[in-house]
Amino acid sequence: MRIHIYSARPHDQQTLVTRLVQAGHRVSSDASRLESATLAESKGCDAVCTFVCDEVSRAILQGLREQGVKLILQRAAGTDNIDLAAARDMDMAVAHVPEYSPHAVAEHAVALLLSLNRHIHQAYQRMQQANFSLDGLLGFDLHGKTVGVIGMGRIGQCFATIMQGFGCHVLAYDPAAAPEQHMAGVRYETLETVWTASDVLSLHCPLRPETHHLVNAELLARTRPRALLINTSRGPVVDTAAVLAALRSEALGGYAADVYEGEACVFFRNCSGCGYDDPLLNDLLHEPGVLLTPHQAFFTAEALTSIASTTLDNITAFSTGQHRANFLV
Ligand code: NAI
Repeated sequence: MRIHIYSARPHDQQTLVTRLVQAGHRVSSDASRLESATLAESKGCDAVCTFVCDEVSRAILQGLREQGVKLILQRAAGTDNIDLAAARDMDMAVAHVPEYSPHAVAEHAVALLLSLNRHIHQAYQRMQQANFSLDGLLGFDLHGKTVGVIGMGRIGQCFATIMQGFGCHVLAYDPAAAPEQHMAGVRYETLETVWTASDVLSLHCPLRPETHHLVNAELLARTRPRALLINTSRGPVVDTAAVLAALRSEALGGYAADVYEGEACVFFRNCSGCGYDDPLLNDLLHEPGVLLTPHQAFFTAEALTSIASTTLDNITAFSTGQHRANFLV
């Protein structure tokens, strides 16, 4: 099969491209994200391999189809960047990688929480400047605190398990979790109850129309004083401007995120030489009480190996018509 990989980074060359080429596929790749300007790069290919920042809208799918592409291979769990209804209308197949390492993402959420609470990133910067004072570095014990998990799927459950290990009480909100699926030791409640009762809130739900700006000014107004919010799910689940306002009014104690609602135009690139044109991101990066990472929660060696292997399986499933469990269309 002839496959073009969009948004390819050096780690994709080392793992994904190597695996696909070893399996006999003809692979081309480019660092550019999929958008109308880069559509022609996949001309003549049977499949394109996309990532979270690629634009797979109806118009782009139409263009891909016209140039012969039949299969979209998303190398991620989330598919909120893909218009699945449009793909269905055009009879194009879409496969993703639903589970590669929920541990990778949950562990990163914990890393963000620990850094934010104990000001590790600020302490590191101070130490580099020979400032050894403790002023402003006060945190709190996680042991005995209440942690609210929004979305109790694969990653949410891993995160809850780790938090139980810290001696936290775990509350969860997941509208689709049936009682028989509830995790032991976790109390499932309404969003309102989880939000108002938690010292730490961690988002692990997918981005869907109903979760867009789920965390808005109204919800943030009901946050426990000085609570910490962690977001490793998707940027648009949070209204960033409302989070900034909540931090400034001290309704929220801190915000650590691996995702940002305008990330597609900035993340995964080195903009240190050229800058970026995003005043909201600039405000967020310079707000005390905010810790951001560039969508790296998935980025472990184990996860990359698993993504490459499942993507290869998805190609085989498309060719044979069997084992299409990862196909959404
Ligand atoms: P999953 O599908 O196993 O779990 C998602 C859970 O969210 C399900 O239990 C679902 O019922 C629940 N949910 C759906 N709507 C909800 C709502 N309105 N409120 C609360 N819960 C809701 O997915 P998984 O693997 O746990 O991933 C979760 C999300 O994490 C992905 O959709 C993706 O957006 C994000 N992610 C981020 C990564 C990163 O590198 N930062 C990497 C991988 C995933």
